[in-house]
Formats: sequence, C-alpha cells, structure tokens
Amino acid sequence: MDKVRFEELSLSLMGKNPDEVLKWFLSNYKNRIVLSSSLGLEDQVLTDMIVKIEPDTRIFTLDTGRLFYETHELIEKTCLRYKIKMEIYSPNQHEVEQMVLQKGINLFYQSVENRKECCRIRKINPLKRAFAGSDVWICGLRREQSVTRTDNKLIEWDEANGMIKLNPLIDWTEQQVWDYIKQNNVPYNSLHDKGYPSIGCQPCTRAIFPGEDVRAGRWWWESPESKECGLHNRKK
Ligand code: ADX
Ligand code: SF4
Repeated sequence: MDKVRFEELSLSLMGKNPDEVLKWFLSNYKNRIVLSSSLGLEDQVLTDMIVKIEPDTRIFTLDTGRLFYETHELIEKTCLRYKIKMEIYSPNQHEVEQMVLQKGINLFYQSVENRKECCRIRKINPLKRAFAGSDVWICGLRREQSVTRTDNKLIEWDEANGMIKLNPLIDWTEQQVWDYIKQNNVPYNSLHDKGYPSIGCQPCTRAIFPGEDVRAGRWWWESPESKECGLHNRKK
C-alpha cells in the first residue's frame, strides 16, 4: 500500500470504534488478515469481537515453550468457548537447543542481549512463519501500557514484517478492557486475579505490587525503556 493511500485510510478510520474498524478490515482483507494473540486481556477482547464478526479469521499464538500452565489452560478454554482452532507456533528446536547449550536454560537473566536473543528465537522467528500469506496483523497494543508504546497508532506500517499492523484497542483504557471482558463474559487468564496484569513467559513475568505500573512485572530486572521483546517497535 502506498503512503498516500495509507494516510487516507488512517484518516477515514479516525473516530471509529474497535468493532467498526475490525469490520472494515475483516471484510476488505478477508483471508489475508491474522490476529496474534498472547491470550492477554486485550487479545481476548479482540478474539471475542473477531469471532462475532468473522469466525473463520486466523488466530495464532506463539508458544515459546516457557509459558505459564494457566496460559495453556486459557488456550484450551478459548478454543472450546468460541469453537475455533487457534494456530500454535513453536520455536525451531535446533535454535533452542544451540542457544541453551551455549548460554544456559535461563540465559535471559544475565544480560539484555541474552534476553533479546531468547525472545528472537522463541518469538520473533516463529512469528515470521505465522505471518505467511497475510497482509494485516491485528494486535492488542494500548498506548497507555508503556513508555515504549506512547507513539503507537491505530494503523501502522510494520517495516520489519512488511505488513499493516492494526491496533484496534490503541486508545482504550485498562478499565474499558475489563468492562468489555465482564459484560461479554470473555474467558481470561486466572493469573490476572492473582496480581498479574500483563502476562508473558513464566520466568520473565512476576506479580506486581499495589500501585506499580501494569508492565512492572515483565522483565522486571530491566529498565522500562528496554522492555520490548522485539515483536513491537522494531525496525527492519
Ligand atoms: S510483549 O511484546 O510485551 O510480549 P504484550 O504481552 O504486551 O507484548 O502483548 C502485546 C501484543 O503482542 C499482543 O496483543 C499480541 O498481539 C502480541 N503478542 C505478544 N505475545 C504474543 C504471543 N506469545 N503470541 C502471539 N502474539 C503475541
Ligand atoms: Fe525467553 Fe523470557 Fe523472551 Fe520468553 S520472555 S522468549 S523466556 S526471554
């Protein structure tokens, strides 16, 4: 899509609610659009909205091999509730074996560099396979989630993957997300009720203390500015 068309599209979607935006994209990009779900609250909202509009839409998750048991439990629950088949992508076994052999099973605690390598092998590389054949990537980013996300927009050109990235909930508050979950009886991760507002891999996620930032429990040993795994805000 050229730059002018992209700008026009952004303008025409301004002020529309997530449901309207999704309807537009799902009907215009039919089999070339995919939701990447971490099974987080936002992704559960998007799954509920999408299934109600177009139940055959592709939804995938990256199973890093280090997820919480509760996340696997939610994958199962979500598939049963919505009668969908979620695509589950695993990392390349040789890459994981080599990394672990050279740097250890819990290498991520040793340096930001090691942590990014683990995220690259367990998330970014499988992501490329998951995107095959798609032009639009729907994801659950919200601007207020983090200092690294204040510049994200409803639609963006994702240079690293050469596709449109759609963030339907970009302007939503945490309260709006919870209201939707409750009103629509959307299944969610049981860890959210135990002090985990943002959930990633088990060794890299802890519960937060009252008053802490919602993403304070993700890679908690790093500074806020480095806390992205490379799925987002990444150049080529
Ligand atoms: S992360 O980059 O810090 O891990 P976060 O948990 O906030 O991301 O999720 C933001 C968005 O990234 C999700 O809405 C989802 O679209 C995508 N995402 C994150 N983790 C995964 C995953 N394991 N599988 C698929 N998509 C994911
Ligand atoms: Fe590895 Fe932690 Fe990244 Fe998961 S979040 S891929 S365990 S570094």
